[in-house]
Amino acid sequence: MLILGIETSCDETSIAVVSDGKKILSNIISSSLHLHKKYGGVVPEIACRHHTELINIVLDKALKKAGVRLKDIEAIAVTYGPGLVGALLVGISLAKALSYALKIPLIPINHLHAHLYSAIMSSEKEVFPCIGLVVSGGHSSLVYIKDIEQIQLLGQTRDDACGEAFDKVAKILNLGFPGGPVIEKRSERGDPKSIKFPRSYLEKDSFDFSFSGIKTAVLYYAQALKKNKKRVPVADICASFQEAMFDMLLNKTKDCCVKKKAKRLVVGGGVSANKTLRDRLVEMGRKEDVKASFPIKEMYMDNGAMVAGLGFELYNRKRFADYTLSAEPNLNF
Ligand code: KG4
Ligand code: ZN
Repeated sequence: MLILGIETSCDETSIAVVSDGKKILSNIISSSLHLHKKYGGVVPEIACRHHTELINIVLDKALKKAGVRLKDIEAIAVTYGPGLVGALLVGISLAKALSYALKIPLIPINHLHAHLYSAIMSSEKEVFPCIGLVVSGGHSSLVYIKDIEQIQLLGQTRDDACGEAFDKVAKILNLGFPGGPVIEKRSERGDPKSIKFPRSYLEKDSFDFSFSGIKTAVLYYAQALKKNKKRVPVADICASFQEAMFDMLLNKTKDCCVKKKAKRLVVGGGVSANKTLRDRLVEMGRKEDVKASFPIKEMYMDNGAMVAGLGFELYNRKRFADYTLSAEPNLNF
């Protein structure tokens, strides 16, 4: 069973061919990140143009690498939200055209669900029921996953997303965009206990996050040093910021696992690329008897393979869309 997965929700144009929902035959990712760097964030118009220019090339490459032809594909899975509306529409338009021309089903995919599926796809054993943690540039969510389709939203960020906080702090420290990878790198030489940035835990029973306060705390800290003509200890700030961010994530994730008596945890989204976060979640899992699963390396960032993989599960449940399918930029669980 060959499924083509199309992902164009933000700055990655990605198409994959996946066999039986598990075996990745190809997963081509063309990122427009380099074009956004000088603006300090993703510029929607530039991302959309990049998708339009690259999508047919990415499609050809994905088919070629997989060693298949279009007529071998049995269904098209496509991300329809959340994301940038223009960017989503490029992928959706291609998906509809292929589905119509090849007379095969069109499967709509929620990007957040696909991020979690990337960890489910990589794990050997059955994971349900489990807790899911999505940590990306646009979202930070905790969910209870009863089975592949029954997902209950338990908490989400009330302001900045986790990745967004990394990007904003990197901007404050003039470290460029995106912030996550560079903050992780700089943290290696810093002392995570050197600066006590505030942790926001909100109400006692809430599984929501709030990351805007810590970002402002970093800003004021750096500004005060500069005003007093003191050296800004970038590595220590990065390490202490990262430590505080992960304390908040860990605290809520652990409480969720305990409350729901979950023995499994799946984590997805760009911030799951961070090794310190993964190590800390594994360590927490060891103490709480929860096994944590993460995506394989090529699936940390946005990619078509997670879309095609989830597409297989939904194909089996006949969750097809008709040609009125449109982009849903604010889609949630
Ligand atoms: O999932 P993703 O590729 O795109 C969205 O769906 O938003 O996530 C991108 C986010 C960016 O904010 C980036 O700074 C963050 O993931 N990120 C990281 C790391 N690598 C990427 N954050 C922390 N540590 C990393 N190593
Ligand atoms: Zn994403």
